Amino acid sequence: MPKTRKVAIWDAPIRLFHWCLVLLILACWITESLGWMPLHFLCGEAVLALILFRVVWGFVGSDTARFGFFLRSPAEALRHLAHLPRREPDTEVGHNAAGGWMVLGLLGLLLVQTLTGLFSNDDDSFTEGPLKHMIGKELSDRISSVHELTFTLIEIAVALHVLAIVVYLVLKGHILVRPMILGTKELPDTISAPRLVSPLAAAAILLVCAAIVAAAVRLL
Ligand code: HEM
Ligand code: HEM
Repeated sequence: MPKTRKVAIWDAPIRLFHWCLVLLILACWITESLGWMPLHFLCGEAVLALILFRVVWGFVGSDTARFGFFLRSPAEALRHLAHLPRREPDTEVGHNAAGGWMVLGLLGLLLVQTLTGLFSNDDDSFTEGPLKHMIGKELSDRISSVHELTFTLIEIAVALHVLAIVVYLVLKGHILVRPMILGTKELPDTISAPRLVSPLAAAAILLVCAAIVAAAVRLL
């Protein structure tokens, strides 16, 4: 066994982003089910601000947050999946080649979900998204159908996402959840640590993203 050491792989902003996202999506689902639409809008707008933050952080953030760092070719992702049943030490710094595509898919679906919500409407509960007034009823109805369909796709994607975490644990013995909570992972000495960017920069970016969303839903 090579010597290992504890390495910080996920910065605090990514971890906070992830667990706030989970809670807010749960809140979006519960509020909609209970018909608490003003709260549904608020939680949905918070998700939109988080996704915008994550996209920017994917370009200027810590190494493991950057799209350029974890997005590898589809061929590499398939090669990675072919090795899934192989039990081997976890030497991954950040997302693996297949996980990178999952991240992109989840972020894309959530962006569609939040943007369509802004223009959706529901005749039964007399609910209109905050930007519905910018478009006609027919287009808003079609967008509402996309909002509904995308939620089903998100449910499937999240189920697969959690299943993947369990499969890595059972087949490979890799514990992925602990680093997403604590930030650190045991890695061989030979692997260099990723560069992490100050959380203050993340806070400033999140503030700007939240301000843009708040201004868009109130002023447009
Ligand atoms: C609404 C539910 C969820 C959504 C939308 C979601 C979304 C995401 C996203 C977007 C990432 C990428 C993080 C980033 O780079 O920004 C991620 C990573 C991750 N998520 Fe989730 N997640 C959900 C639920 C969960 C749950 C319940 C668990 C725990 C079992 C979990 C465990 C993880 C782990 C361990 C990673 C890192 C995977 C790796 O090492 O590559 N997620 N998730
Ligand atoms: C990730 C964030 C979001 C999730 C998970 C979500 C989820 C849902 C779900 C499950 C429905 C019920 C669809 C149906 O079966 O009819 C719904 C409806 C609705 N949501 Fe969202 N939503 C999100 C974001 C937003 C946002 C940002 C807004 C606007 C600010 C919004 C506005 C609406 C409206 C107006 C409806 C009623 C129209 C319809 O049924 O499609 N949602 N949402």
